[in-house]
Amino acid sequence: MIDMEQTDVTILAIETSCDETAAAVVRNGREVLSNIISSQIDLHTLYGGVVPEIASRKHIEKINQVVLEALQAADKKLQDMDAIAVTYGPGLVGALLVGVSAAKAISFASGIPLVGVHHIEGHISANYIENRDLEPPFVCLVVSGGHSHLVVVKDYGEYEILGRTRDDAAGEAFDKVARAIGLGYPGGPKIDKVSKEGNPLAIQFPRAKVADAVYDFSFSGLKSAVLNYLNSCEMKGIEVCQADVAASFQKAVVDVLVEHSIQAVQECGMKKFAIAGGVASNSSLRGALEEACRERGIAFYHPSPILCTDNAAMIGAAGYYEYIKGVRSGYDLNAVPNLKLGER
Ligand code: KG4
Ligand code: ZN
Repeated sequence: MIDMEQTDVTILAIETSCDETAAAVVRNGREVLSNIISSQIDLHTLYGGVVPEIASRKHIEKINQVVLEALQAADKKLQDMDAIAVTYGPGLVGALLVGVSAAKAISFASGIPLVGVHHIEGHISANYIENRDLEPPFVCLVVSGGHSHLVVVKDYGEYEILGRTRDDAAGEAFDKVARAIGLGYPGGPKIDKVSKEGNPLAIQFPRAKVADAVYDFSFSGLKSAVLNYLNSCEMKGIEVCQADVAASFQKAVVDVLVEHSIQAVQECGMKKFAIAGGVASNSSLRGALEEACRERGIAFYHPSPILCTDNAAMIGAAGYYEYIKGVRSGYDLNAVPNLKLGER
């Protein structure tokens, strides 16, 4: 139930589900007063991917400092907060636990209510921050390192999942292919950059369809096709053009994401479409969706790249809509590594 009596709601949000230690202060779900992100990317680059144990330890080292910085940058005191919102799943259990424990401790010590937030709901809600006019219902494509979902956002916090990946998430495919062509971690941004120098039509990689579920995705066949291409070039002594492979792979992913998304928007009879998650910062995907939506008179919403990848401002946005509905978490809130969208 929305409490119309209360005017301003200011939330301290915490996010530690993967490799960013993040805290933010968000007013009324849409106004970001501060957004502090301490990235561990440099640390994990040494190992070619996120090492869960290292991520947890780094979160513990950074969390207090990041929370304090978020309050200071917002020029607020803890007592000014109406709620503490925290990501409690899905994600790496040891990483999630750091944020959840910190949020519970802050909430317990201050008496400020605690609100557990779903990470994907956070990604979707990042769209509310810079698009003050965006309200449900709309269709959202969520593409991150761990998830690829096509979702109808029926109302705030109410979702219907139309399709999901059967195997690798889109970001995971970017990361694996980047490793295979020698670009290293994190793969998405590197493929995005090097693709600008390559020919997206140079190599014909497959666009996978899932026979019995039109909105589902499958990226592992595409990843195997890239690996097979690289192997056959090696065997034949043909020099591989890294930029062409990157651009052709990226085009195969983008084509499938665009086709599924547009079909979903049209079949649901929606006029609004949004994207979310780390892969949503991909320049080719944004460009292709922008054009496809413009041609069909669909309003296209996308967060700035910094709000696509993991951050706490998006958790503050999602947390606000949970808070005004009356959702409160107890001190038994636990990390749920495989939390499903729409579950509490
Ligand atoms: O949403 P996110 O920060 O973390 C998860 O919740 O997983 O997404 C990270 C994923 C990584 O797989 C990364 O390679 C991908 O998003 N990514 C990109 C780009 N920037 C990040 N993929 C394609 N193009 C990009 N520009
Ligand atoms: Zn994420």
